[in-house]
Parts: sequence; C-alpha cells; structure tokens
Amino acid sequence: MAQNVKILSTGRYVPDRVLTNYDLEKMVDTSDEWITQRTGIKERRIVDGTTSTTDLAVRAAKNAMDKAGILPDDIDLVIVATVTPEMFFPSTACLVQKELKLKNAFAFDISAACSGFIYAMAIATHFIQNGFCKNALVIGAEALSRITNWSDRSTCVLFGDGAGAAILSSGDEQGILGFELGSDGENGLLLYCHAFGLSDVTYSQVKENPNFRKIYMEGNEVYKFAVKIMPYAVEKVLEKVGLSSSDIDVFIPHQANIRIIESAAKRLKIPMEKVFVNLHKYGNTSAASIPIALDEAVEEGRIKKGDKVVLVGFGGGLTWASTVIKWV
Ligand code: COA
Repeated sequence: MAQNVKILSTGRYVPDRVLTNYDLEKMVDTSDEWITQRTGIKERRIVDGTTSTTDLAVRAAKNAMDKAGILPDDIDLVIVATVTPEMFFPSTACLVQKELKLKNAFAFDISAACSGFIYAMAIATHFIQNGFCKNALVIGAEALSRITNWSDRSTCVLFGDGAGAAILSSGDEQGILGFELGSDGENGLLLYCHAFGLSDVTYSQVKENPNFRKIYMEGNEVYKFAVKIMPYAVEKVLEKVGLSSSDIDVFIPHQANIRIIESAAKRLKIPMEKVFVNLHKYGNTSAASIPIALDEAVEEGRIKKGDKVVLVGFGGGLTWASTVIKWV
C-alpha cells in the first residue's frame, strides 16, 4: 500500500554578505529604480570566496534536521537540486552526506535549475510512497554568483546565493497531494550556462572570453514563458488533486521577478495577501528560492495546520514544476 508523505520540517541558510542595488550601480550601468521597478529586487546575498554550494546546503540541511529533531542515522535519502555544484563529482549530495554523517542514506544531485527543488521533492515523495525510504532530506542550494556574468547588467542584477531544505517523511496523514512536472528542451538555449565537453567549446573560446561559462539569458523570451507556464502548472496540479485556486491558502511561487508573480496570481485569481514574496531580500536563488521562501513562510506563521500550500517553479531547461501540499 502506498505510504503517506508529509513535510516534517524545513530549513534555510543564506550567506551574510548583502549586495544591494546601490552596490550594483557602482559595478554596471544600472539604477536601484530600474531594478526595483522591473524586478522587485532590492538586495541579494553573495557567498565569500571560501564558501561553496555544499557549505550552504549543509547549513540549510542542519537547520531542517534540528527543527525536526531527527538523527543523522534516520535520514535514508539525500537529494540536492543545484546548477552550481562544487564539483561534477562527487555530487553535492554526497558531500552533504559526508559533512552531516548521514551514513544510512543514498545521495545524488539533480539538475532542473529553478524547478529543481520541486523535481527533487517529487522524486523523494515517490521513493517514500513506495516504501523504499522513510526520511528524505531534500535540498535546493546555489552559489549563482560564481556563474554570474558581472558585466552583463541584464542578468547580474537578478541572481543571488542561498540554500533551503525540507525533510520529507512517511506519516499517518497525506501531506503531499500531487505534482505537475514538465520540460521543453526545444527552447533550452533561451537560458543557459556552458559546462565542459560540448563539441564546439574550444580551449581558445574559453580562454579569450572569461564570461563563456557564465549565465546567458534572453530575458524577454524567458519572461513570456514564465507568465504563461506558472498559471498553467498550477491549474494542472490543482486539477489532478481535485482542487481549485480558491482552495489555496498560501501560494509560494519561484522568486524570480515580482511582475511575473503578480501576473500569475492575477491569472489564477489568487489575492496577493495569499502570495509569499521574499525576492526583495534575496533575488532569484534558482533551486534554493522555493525552499527558502517555504521556510520563511513557516517561520513567520503564514502557514497553519490544515492549510493548502501551492509551490510552483519555472526555469532553465526549460522546466516547470508545481505541487500541492496539505500542511499536516
Ligand atoms: N539596468 C538598467 N537598464 C537595463 C538593465 C539594468 N539592469 N537591464 C536591461 N536594461 C535595459 C535594456 O538594455 C533595455 O534598454 P533599451 O530599451 O535601450 O534596449 C531596457 O532596459 C529594457 O530591457 P528589457 O529587457 O526589455 O526589460 P524588461 O522589462 O523585459 O526586464 C528582465 C528585463 C530581465 C527583468 C525581464 O525580462 C525578466 O524578468 N525576464 C525573466 C527573467 C527570469 O525570470 N529569469 C530566470 C528564470 S528562472
């Protein structure tokens, strides 16, 4: 029989260093006014030179484990969603396993950009439902500042660093009600970052252009995709679980741009009072954005027992993902 799955606890960690819009004014031709009006972002957190994605992930995970009062031996699965791993291998998840001494777990990373945390939740949920695992540590962690092109004003104002985590466990009541996941590889090159091994990536190209392995984005096209796909992904998942948008108590969208969030909320007829927004503090932290927001929403008392919470993300791939959670 399928096991029920719930969120046992959440956690987060963001680096101390704050980079404000005013700081960016000194780096590229931009202004606080432009960034605020076009994106809603006021500041973002940036790792120092010695902090890795793994460090961020470990701290967010530890925070979630402490809140749940769960022992390291009881975690049997670790999934890290990231596009900024410290190494190609070992996976960030294996590095987290080592740091936190999660010796009974199997661990791996997934790459689904800003949809990564919900993709990872879906994978963990299915392992738990099948009885293969009991307690999964799911983390979204990014040091995006390492792949940001700091001379491109159209992208460098958007991103930040951080990590969020959740522990998913089998439980008496069904907490995680359903998922909608999708991707569109055809349009993947609207938003990308090169790695090694592409046939056309030559040593000289990399050497001549220090920004070759940095984020590239066609902002307007990604914007059009985002405002369409967010309401679509939410409507689909609500339909699957037999609910409508008026049943949503708390809506936690990927924190990319306030205009995208407001447009999705409007189309879904969700009042902004039900929408959790923290992008003014952190910018877009990719896979970390949704779990950081979820943890802050819990901490601020925005989510109460019995509430229906919808998470939705979109991003590189292109990918999208949504889930409905009953807070039990
Ligand atoms: N400061 C000042 N001006 C800037 C700027 C900046 N940081 N970035 C771009 N501009 C300029 C452009 O050069 C352009 O100037 P022009 O009209 O003289 O050519 C003008 O502002 C308008 O640019 P445009 O790209 O049309 O702005 P926009 O309103 O579409 O906003 C984004 C740009 C990037 C904020 C918006 O497209 C967006 O949010 N896209 C989705 C991004 C996203 O969510 N990505 C992550 C996916 S997970």
